[in-house]
Amino acid sequence: MHKDIQDILFTEEEIAQRIEEIGADITKEYAEVIAKGESVLLISVLRGAAIFMADLARTIDLPVEMDYMAISSYGNGTKSSGVVRILKDLTSDIKGQHIIVVEDILDSGLTLKYLLKNLASREPASIEVVTLLRKKTLQQAKINCKYIGFECPDQFIVGYGLDYAERYRNLPYIGILKSEVYH
Ligand code: PRP
Repeated sequence: MHKDIQDILFTEEEIAQRIEEIGADITKEYAEVIAKGESVLLISVLRGAAIFMADLARTIDLPVEMDYMAISSYGNGTKSSGVVRILKDLTSDIKGQHIIVVEDILDSGLTLKYLLKNLASREPASIEVVTLLRKKTLQQAKINCKYIGFECPDQFIVGYGLDYAERYRNLPYIGILKSEVYH
């Protein structure tokens, strides 16, 4: 275990297994859409969710497309600022496509609230959300997530895409960061 990690919350194996389950659910639920000749697009919110999307996409046994957006939701520290802006937009038009937004973590929900409204205005055929983690916080925007990997405590967690000051994203597990690292 990395020296800055206090506890491992979800191991590499647990994450892989949960992703397999979500991928199997998505495969089942979107098979009909694909059979009708319609297209399914996975949209990952950079940067954290890129790792999750890469693994999730490979567990979906359907011809899905992939695109990326970059959104800034955090100010300068560890708390959401409420300021959301698009840093990188999608490559193509999503009108008429079935969208699955892939997020690594739902915290305040401000990022997804903004993003879902923005994407809905582009007239896709449908939009669903898959988030690997949902933080148990008191003040979270109401976001309808079709697929949730794990509920997690309201602590500072890193790994598997999640960073603190751009570090720890490449840890293969998700863990709680020791408080002395950010104090
Ligand atoms: C994180 C995470 C989500 C968002 C969730 O991204 O990847 O996109 O915050 O927080 P919220 O529910 O409070 O809005 P961040 O802005 O840290 O960027 P990153 O993915 O590049 O780390």
